Amino acid sequence: MTDSTMQTSAGKGRIFSGIQPTGNLHLGNYLGAIRNWVALQHDFESIYCVVDLHAITVHQDPADLRKSTREVAASLIAAGISTEQSILFNQSCVPQHAELAWIFNCVTRLGWLNRMTQFKEKAGKNRENASVGLYAYPTLMAADILTYRATHVPVGEDQKQHLELTRDIAQAFNSIYDKDVFPLPEPQIFGSATRVMSFRDGRAKMSKSDPSDNSRINMTDDADMIMQKIRKAKTDPDALPSEMAGLADRPEASNLVGIYAALAECSTDDVLAEFGGRGFGDFKPALGDLAVAKLSPIGAEMRRLLENPADIDAILADGAERAAAIARPILAEVRDIVGFLGSSTDR
Ligand code: TYM
Repeated sequence: MTDSTMQTSAGKGRIFSGIQPTGNLHLGNYLGAIRNWVALQHDFESIYCVVDLHAITVHQDPADLRKSTREVAASLIAAGISTEQSILFNQSCVPQHAELAWIFNCVTRLGWLNRMTQFKEKAGKNRENASVGLYAYPTLMAADILTYRATHVPVGEDQKQHLELTRDIAQAFNSIYDKDVFPLPEPQIFGSATRVMSFRDGRAKMSKSDPSDNSRINMTDDADMIMQKIRKAKTDPDALPSEMAGLADRPEASNLVGIYAALAECSTDDVLAEFGGRGFGDFKPALGDLAVAKLSPIGAEMRRLLENPADIDAILADGAERAAAIARPILAEVRDIVGFLGSSTDR
């Protein structure tokens, strides 16, 4: 591994993270991932990707995919991703991701993929009918990260198993070819909302694919909608306890307290010190006000940015150029190690 491609020019670690353009971004994406991306971009060289190749592992209407790709890019910028300091692009514009994913498909064992819980959840009962792409999804994710030799990957908790697999793939490749080619990237899962739960079921993850819109707060929801969804969120009849131990076996209450702490940037203990002994009739309006104060400006900025879609496209194209400039020499080295003659065209 050459120093020039392993260490960034500024000597910082390198971050890679991605998000799927499949419908609305929600509060879970924001608190579990995007907010951390914004915070970390000053300390790391950061590469953030709208993963359109991942999106089509489940069929997407082409017009919807284009629209969602722009919307997700606009949300990220509105949330504070600097497109000068960081690189923001859509995955399919940098062909090295798909090239490395194929190479990884030839290193990854079926048994490793068979253990992936997300495939089992997404494929559901009709597994025979799931796409091969959905099954191989984690090898593409490993390729996303390792195409850039990223060292750190900020994600929500649901991606932990995929990152463990990424480390296994990196290690397997290094060992098969007996070269120290890839780093073993570190997952960065932090904050009090690493797993934001559904507003309708405190034991299910808040998700874009939940058919009930009331189960989540979308980044595009206006103030009235945010207040209404929080008011309707499932809770239990008891008052909030004064200490965290009192939240055991109260998943819905725990979830709302965790969300409040994450939005207020304080600890869950602080939240309970303030609201302990008070009921949801008091707590929900306070949470609603806080959520509106934090999220509404992002939604408004996103809508403003989307008035000029050509500007978003230009930002993504510029990001893809900058990403490809990092990926090309790494893939050239990998091709050589694997034994491929020549170089792929287009680079
Ligand atoms: P995706 O698009 O499902 O989610 C994007 C990010 O949001 C986090 N997240 C959550 N965090 C807390 N609570 C929730 N309810 C919640 N829902 C989603 C996710 O953990 C993620 O960080 N496979 C990835 C995208 C991806 C990727 C990558 C990530 C593709 N390649 C390489 C990191 C590195 C995914 O589907 O994320």
